[in-house]
Amino acid sequence: MILIAGGTGTLGTEVVHLLTARGLEVRILTRDPARAEHERGDLVEIVSGDVQDARAVERAVAGTQTVISAIQGFGGIDPAGPQAVDRQGNTNLIRAAKEGETDHFILVSIQGAAPDHPMELFRMKHLAEEELKASGLTWTIIRPTAYMETWATLIGEPLLKSGRTRIFGRGNNPINFVSAHDVARFVELAVVDPAMRGEVVEVGGPENLTMEQFAQTFEAVSGKAGKVSYVPLPMMRLMSVLMRPINPTLARQIHAGVVMDTHDSSFDPSETIRRYPQVPLTSLAEVVRRDYVAPMTE
Ligand SMILES: NC(=O)c1ccc[n+]([C@@H]2O[C@H](COP(=O)([O-])OP(=O)(O)OC[C@H]3O[C@@H](n4cnc5c(N)ncnc54)[C@H](OP(=O)(O)O)[C@@H]3O)[C@@H](O)[C@H]2O)c1
Repeated sequence: MILIAGGTGTLGTEVVHLLTARGLEVRILTRDPARAEHERGDLVEIVSGDVQDARAVERAVAGTQTVISAIQGFGGIDPAGPQAVDRQGNTNLIRAAKEGETDHFILVSIQGAAPDHPMELFRMKHLAEEELKASGLTWTIIRPTAYMETWATLIGEPLLKSGRTRIFGRGNNPINFVSAHDVARFVELAVVDPAMRGEVVEVGGPENLTMEQFAQTFEAVSGKAGKVSYVPLPMMRLMSVLMRPINPTLARQIHAGVVMDTHDSSFDPSETIRRYPQVPLTSLAEVVRRDYVAPMTE
């Protein structure tokens, strides 16, 4: 049995599909079982719980040989924050795995996780990585760059639906984007290939794109031009501070926008491609065709 915490997310949903397609049994941990109900089947169990609740985590981990952490407290529904989810939630999962029968822990971290990163999410992922490495468990750490599918919903989808989109900042900083479907293939590989144990796998996509180029790819592939507006950086900096006491989630997201617009977020995927030729990397144009253009013509 494989536990997947975060099995309802953008990445986790794909991981569930890949593992069950191999005939492997998975257990999804979610705060809201209704979100995963459509996945229930012979190979899929659903358990209710919050990763902040150590008892619920122990119950979810019981009897599993592999634990996959694909959680994050950053975006999504009602985020509790990186400190609560990416740090404490992972601590609870690692502890329960150590005390149980788990023999392999796969942590989905983030490319660039470091103790001095300007974003809390990256600092909390770093702490989770360190804790896992020191735990005595057999581990694999996957460190992906930004997901195309996540940013597609924020930048590309509004362009296709309303003919307008908004870029946070200047939009001219090159960022590496990877498809969550490709990241899921790496997680699948980590489950089935013993050679991945003890490895920190840096996973990037084939292109470094600015947010402007990201939006332009949607326009080019869909054949629909739209209007792009820009939220000025100084306003974002101010808002991220002013919003902190009122709406910390929004403040965090605006701050993330500032960091993504100013911090080096590029990545050279050539080493990933060389080491893992079995996972071809998908371009943004292919993702736009697959997720947006093809469904419109079906
Ligand atoms: N999105 C990106 O650009 C990106 C880039 C690099 C790395 N990553 C990493 O990749 C992994 C997956 O990201 P994603 O974008 O696919 O995630 P997502 O779509 O935002 O989904 C987050 C997942 O975390 C679960 N979760 C959040 N808080 C929880 C809590 N308190 N208790 C239990 N579960 C909780 C959610 O489950 P429920 O809501 O069902 O409870 C959901 O399945 C994460 O580790 C993330 O940090 C993401």
